[in-house]
Amino acid sequence: MPLLVQNGRIITATDDYVADIYCAGETVTRIEPRISSETLPHGPEEIEIVDASGKYVFPGFIDPHVHIYLPFMGTYAADDYESASKAALAGGTTTLIEMICPGPNDEPMDAFQTWRSKAEGLASVDYTFHMSVVGFEERVREQFRHIVEQGVSSFKVFLAYKGALNLSDEHLFAVMKMARELGVIVTAHCENADAIDAMQKSLLADGKTGPEWHGPSRPPVVEADGVHHLCSFAELTGAHVYTVHTSCDAAVRQALAARHRGVNVWIESVAPHLVFDESSASLPNFEGAKYVMSPPLRHKANQDVLWNAIRSRSISTIGTDHAPFNFRGQKDMGKSAFTMIPNGIPTLQERVDIVHTRGVSEGRIDLQTMVDACSTQAARIFGLHPRKGTIQVGGDADLVVYDPHYRGTFSLKNSFSKVDYNAYEGWEQKGRASVVTVRGEVQVRDGEFVGTVGRGRFIGREPTHG
Ligand code: URP
Ligand code: ZN
Ligand code: ZN
Repeated sequence: MPLLVQNGRIITATDDYVADIYCAGETVTRIEPRISSETLPHGPEEIEIVDASGKYVFPGFIDPHVHIYLPFMGTYAADDYESASKAALAGGTTTLIEMICPGPNDEPMDAFQTWRSKAEGLASVDYTFHMSVVGFEERVREQFRHIVEQGVSSFKVFLAYKGALNLSDEHLFAVMKMARELGVIVTAHCENADAIDAMQKSLLADGKTGPEWHGPSRPPVVEADGVHHLCSFAELTGAHVYTVHTSCDAAVRQALAARHRGVNVWIESVAPHLVFDESSASLPNFEGAKYVMSPPLRHKANQDVLWNAIRSRSISTIGTDHAPFNFRGQKDMGKSAFTMIPNGIPTLQERVDIVHTRGVSEGRIDLQTMVDACSTQAARIFGLHPRKGTIQVGGDADLVVYDPHYRGTFSLKNSFSKVDYNAYEGWEQKGRASVVTVRGEVQVRDGEFVGTVGRGRFIGREPTHG
């Protein structure tokens, strides 16, 4: 059904104006100061009309870093595409980029098919993937070319997780050479795996087993070293790189220094690092395990550095690194050793509202920067723009009509994720998506899913980093 959004304040990464938006055939077809329903080629009963008076109209938000199907640390992430899509949409995210994370012995092409099959029929957001490269033997290299041809134009590498996901330097170099040749960007988890391994062993040997020791096992210098290493290889190969979940001043500085040298590096932050600090991992009764992620939560001083870098647009994106593991039955696998706590802080539903509440409402960033960091930059960097990431005629009708005056609290009871806790439980929420559309169809109204499970589409992407 065609959609008419009236009287909203349209906010993009560059603009702020009041207009009406008309959408037909899944795309935006008109944006004008006033579009009267009488001038349209349908009766009023054949058009979905949304009154956006007093509200913002944002482009659908894009989460560039999500895990849904994730075999990891001896278990599987708790969400599936149905729960994760609903969580994303309730929070205003209409497109997500999931990490395909195979094990070292899996065939890359099989992994690509597996991850696609997990989304088909269950996704109600649009989605695409970053393809993790956890091994790069000659034998598998052609498969990655084929995956790029199938529309996955970004790789993911792990410099962390020794013995599980991390890549040797020999293979890292070869991946980056191929990425450069194909025009594919390399996203990277930057932490030195061997240093972490040594520190973990020494902490455990000293009887330091609780979640509060996760942070000390991987301090900022470990991440800064990883960023420096990635950027050195980018400098040598000419590959374009993107540092995921960049958590601290030292790591941001390494990326900016590399950019200053001419390295094509983009920086991602994720919502948990903007609002939590290391003290959360020390909560009593093993509650700290809820706040174990990698890189770990940092000293509070880093939060201002990250927000300021977002404001100056040195940091391009804010994602989530949604990696949902239950407190009971999963996080508690690490009761005797923090190294066995599955890493992740689920945030898919909360991201945009956290950024609005803590970023915009508290004056850290403006609305344009919020849109840029939570939507437009991800679209530009990963080849989704201008179809996604902005509001313009011809673009997909992914719209978020957002009520900035809504007041509530974050809570598990409002959450669509299957995970059994909400890391933001009880926090004040300022603002909420009133209406969320994906390609012109309303999927969410005021926190309720009203859409169609399985309507989400795989979005193939061309390489854009040639
Ligand atoms: O803690 C995290 N980040 N969990 C998910 C895996 C990853 O490193 O992205
Ligand atoms: Zn990671
Ligand atoms: Zn991740």
